[in-house]
Amino acid sequence: MSASDTEIATHAVDLTDVGLFVSGQHTEVLSWLRANDPVHWNPDGEGSGFWALTRYDDVLWAYRNHTAFGSERGAILGGSFRSEADTARGKMLVATDLPRHRLLKQQIHPALSSAVTRRVAERVRQLVDRALDRAVTDGGCDFATAIATELPAGALMEVMGIGYNDAHHLIGLTRRMVGFRDEVFVETGGEERVRLAWLQAEIFEFFADLMAERRTRPGQDLISLLLTAEVNGRRLSEEEIFYNCMNVAVGGNETSSYTACSGIHALAENPDQYAQLIESPSLLSGALEEMLRWGSTNAYVQRVAKHDIELGSVRIREGDSVTLWNISANRDEAHFADAHTFDIHRTPNRHLTYGAGIHRCVGAPVAQAELSLLFEQIVKRGISFRLAGPVQRLRSNFILGITRLPLAIA
Ligand code: HEM
Repeated sequence: MSASDTEIATHAVDLTDVGLFVSGQHTEVLSWLRANDPVHWNPDGEGSGFWALTRYDDVLWAYRNHTAFGSERGAILGGSFRSEADTARGKMLVATDLPRHRLLKQQIHPALSSAVTRRVAERVRQLVDRALDRAVTDGGCDFATAIATELPAGALMEVMGIGYNDAHHLIGLTRRMVGFRDEVFVETGGEERVRLAWLQAEIFEFFADLMAERRTRPGQDLISLLLTAEVNGRRLSEEEIFYNCMNVAVGGNETSSYTACSGIHALAENPDQYAQLIESPSLLSGALEEMLRWGSTNAYVQRVAKHDIELGSVRIREGDSVTLWNISANRDEAHFADAHTFDIHRTPNRHLTYGAGIHRCVGAPVAQAELSLLFEQIVKRGISFRLAGPVQRLRSNFILGITRLPLAIA
């Protein structure tokens, strides 16, 4: 789509069109929306639709205004990877409002504490070292499948207390769920709703086995913690435990590994900046923040208006779906100079990649540990790499990922 093509009637912009995201055209479309229609009504063709907030200030305001914008409809637009028929509302942390959200978060938090984060870092170091050794010996790899997935594997091993093979099995399951429209992961024929229900059932089965085991042999992991957790003096139901395990697994498996992919891709496309990192490894923490801004792996989150809200000249009605576009806020020229340039020196860099407000990513310290470890090892070894073939993008408008990333490595 050319710049003039994007000067289209706003009703023609459809942010559910996955093709926009696979081709990278969403960048241009979102820039246009920020400039021309920052509170955009996106119809769904069935008499309904959702609002799309694309400016940084509006997105941040909505994140912080949790009394006006609730989460109980879930973070993902209907028809996305959770089955519409599921009952996560008010049970899964990300789909819960105050006051229950605070109580539930208190129960989940110890499974992602700083002590756990340190163990994740140590585990990821071992896995990444091994994967990098292999890639160097082989002279290259598909970074997306050979290296990036070791980050969530290390995290799952420590957070869920499971072995390496089980961790990769669970990653395979959540990957298929998030990639439920992508033939790389699933057979895309048949009804999407049925496919989703099957995928969700498989994940629940995985956790059911784990739960049975932890009932007899409890540990310090998330499942053991949730089995004894109480909210308002009542134990969590099995369903609540399943949903929250799934929240942590889906929340953590795809995001950190896809962020690693977009980060290495950005460095491959900006070799001068990688050279600066090798020269001055102290630039790494700023570089990581820029990779997070640049990738904006979690493209948007959904909220529901709890009452009528005036925003600019627009009236959002109670019950309307409202989407907060992180990927657009992170490229808002009003907040980021040269927003479309990848710049490891960028400061300040107050990106919204982890969200903001009460639902801000509870796994962010774990993700930071995984990503720092990986890029520290790459920089420390002075690994030189270049793209060795076309990259392939995930077919999704919610998680922006790269599923094939062939690298030649020296
Ligand atoms: C680069 C990696 C990551 C990104 C970009 C990311 C992004 C996000 C975002 C944007 C939210 C806010 C959702 C909302 O406001 O509705 C969120 C929440 C959440 N994330 Fe992450 N995440 C990452 C890593 C992780 C990891 C490693 C875990 C777990 C180990 C995790 C678990 C969660 C959970 C449980 C929530 C719900 C928090 C709540 O509702 O209070 N995430 N994440």
